[in-house]
Amino acid sequence: MDLVELSKLYDFSGRSVVITGGTGVLGRVMVEALVGCGANVAVLARNRDKAASLLSQMSGSGRTMVVEGDVLKRDDLKQAAQDVAAEFGQIDCLINGAGGNHPQATTKPDLSFFDIPEEALRHVFDLNLLGTIIPSQVFCELMAEQGEGVILNVSSMSAFRPLTRVMTYSAAKSGVNNFTQWLAVHLAQEYSPRIRVNAIAPGFFLTEQDRFLVTDQKTGQPTERGQSIINHTPMGRFGEPEDLLGTLLWLLSPASAFVTGIVVPVDGGFSAFSGV
Ligand SMILES: NC(=O)c1ccc[n+]([C@@H]2O[C@H](COP(=O)([O-])OP(=O)(O)OC[C@H]3O[C@@H](n4cnc5c(N)ncnc54)[C@H](OP(=O)(O)O)[C@@H]3O)[C@@H](O)[C@H]2O)c1
Repeated sequence: MDLVELSKLYDFSGRSVVITGGTGVLGRVMVEALVGCGANVAVLARNRDKAASLLSQMSGSGRTMVVEGDVLKRDDLKQAAQDVAAEFGQIDCLINGAGGNHPQATTKPDLSFFDIPEEALRHVFDLNLLGTIIPSQVFCELMAEQGEGVILNVSSMSAFRPLTRVMTYSAAKSGVNNFTQWLAVHLAQEYSPRIRVNAIAPGFFLTEQDRFLVTDQKTGQPTERGQSIINHTPMGRFGEPEDLLGTLLWLLSPASAFVTGIVVPVDGGFSAFSGV
């Protein structure tokens, strides 16, 4: 065993990472951690100024760049891949972090399952599922040529067992889990066993996407649903974005060199608890 090599596993110096959703509440903490660990990070963002302003507040030995693009626009992604490869040399990791729910795709007292508009269904399926598949098609093609690479998808607790009300999002994220397994097998068998694909499944984090479901907008107190989540989380709290970082670095680094096709819950024990 080489202890010097072992202690350097989370040194990302010279490695390049593309992240979608890097301007989001969870994504920006991932970017900060990776830049701090020495990675060169390209943030694919719809709004260049927003991303540039976030990056300007970060420090670390890694370089950063913004590439403008929408995860559902293949041409944007192809241009982004070219720009990142030109700037950083090659693309070692892709984080498919863009995703989210939509209030109109969630059942509530004044919106039954029967009336969920098709537009909202398509929005959530497209963003979470196609928004993971299309960037993977574009960036994995480069990884296939390189013969190595790491993809990290962002799933959710609702992918394993659907949560009440969030039907569309649950179905879309369960598609992300299935795609994670499929792509892991496909890339390892058809291109290179040195291309790995995994996912992280955050539990409940107090972020914009579900704040309207778990906290009362007027009082800021947990709603009945929010309290139920805490009661079903053995660790008794919502997650903090920083709780994701150990798993993020592990799955992107050679520390997980023999790990592919898994979805890791980071959920304070929510998925292990039967409620009794
Ligand atoms: N928050 C949670 O508790 C939780 C739990 C489980 C899983 N997740 C998942 O974790 C990921 C990040 O969640 P978050 O809470 O950090 O979300 P967030 O704060 O709402 O951020 C969403 C990110 O996705 C980007 N995005 C949305 N549509 C896009 C598009 N068409 N093209 C490119 N980028 C797009 C947004 O970019 P703009 O800046 O341009 O809007 C933003 O960077 C998502 O996949 C989410 O489903 C979150």
